[in-house]
Amino acid sequence: LVRVGVIGTGGWGKNHLRVLAELNALAAFCDIDKAKVDLYRAKYRVPGYTSLEELFQEGLDAVTVCTPTTTHHEVARKALEWGLDVFVEKPLAASPREGEELVALAEGQGLLLGVGYIERFNPAVQELKRLFRERRIGDPLLLEFHRENRWVGVVTDIGVVLDTAVHDIDTALWLFEEAPQVVYARTGRVMSNHEDFAAILLGFEGERTAFLTANWVTPKRVRQLVAVCSKGVATIDFVSQRLVIDESEQTVIPRLPWQEPLKAELEAFLKLVEGRDKDTPLALGPEALRVSQIAEAALISGRTGSPIFLNLDR
Ligand SMILES: NC(=O)c1ccc[n+]([C@@H]2O[C@H](COP(=O)([O-])OP(=O)(O)OC[C@H]3O[C@@H](n4cnc5c(N)ncnc54)[C@H](O)[C@@H]3O)[C@@H](O)[C@H]2O)c1
Repeated sequence: LVRVGVIGTGGWGKNHLRVLAELNALAAFCDIDKAKVDLYRAKYRVPGYTSLEELFQEGLDAVTVCTPTTTHHEVARKALEWGLDVFVEKPLAASPREGEELVALAEGQGLLLGVGYIERFNPAVQELKRLFRERRIGDPLLLEFHRENRWVGVVTDIGVVLDTAVHDIDTALWLFEEAPQVVYARTGRVMSNHEDFAAILLGFEGERTAFLTANWVTPKRVRQLVAVCSKGVATIDFVSQRLVIDESEQTVIPRLPWQEPLKAELEAFLKLVEGRDKDTPLALGPEALRVSQIAEAALISGRTGSPIFLNLDR
């Protein structure tokens, strides 16, 4: 049995507590907020602390880091230095430089560094990847993502590119199975302290393109992907996990079993910690670092108005 500690039990970390408890892997947790520690200690009957140092004394195999993004580097670094396998929520860190340090540290210590790019565990996205691989609707040409929701004041340490667009940047790379060569973005700010709307264009080899819009302005939740392929178009609603495939002669809606992406993702992490089944979709440090590099290029492009040409590892 794997013993996992959860660090940060706010809006999202509380789901890690629930899912890891369901998977019999929750050993302990910590949050700097004493009220949360008291609440979840009583709820899950596991030790809870207000400091990492106390948590690390619990003899853990791994931790999940669910603290605000600007703290990922410091918290994940301490866990890796303690010798623990780490799953850090998306994005890997607040900057590529911080991300590089974590990747190097994990590699140097021979430790696992998984990152929470959760849409890889959405059944509709997994089915679309199968469609792409088998060329069932021809060659993928254009991915158009919309990720929009009124979200003012919820995330305050970073903007919509690093917090929200990164999900779709990762999904684009995962589906196309390569990194883009060029990034162009327009970004702006209307009601937050960081940019809160962005349109990002990623140019891949052979004219393949991903177009992403992300904002915290639209007063309803939209999370959609339209994948234009040479023989049809596939549309995903990330929330309902529905995939619709339109071809010239027919529309196909595969009946996909619903799965909780976080549960599948943390199960994949546990398998990796145990050393079984290494073939999982879980994003690892180097892949997540590429996402951070592309997100940073988008921010620079948004500020300067220039396209940014990249030379990233494949
Ligand atoms: N994968 C997803 O779909 C998804 C969804 C939401 C959030 N997230 C990610 O999860 C992370 C947390 O987001 P959130 O919305 O839960 O934030 P939040 O602000 O609601 O919660 C953060 C918690 O961390 C605690 N904390 C802060 N610094 C700490 C430290 N040094 N040590 C221990 N605890 C500390 C805070 O007290 C708080 O309880 C972010 O990185 C975010 O990007 C991922």
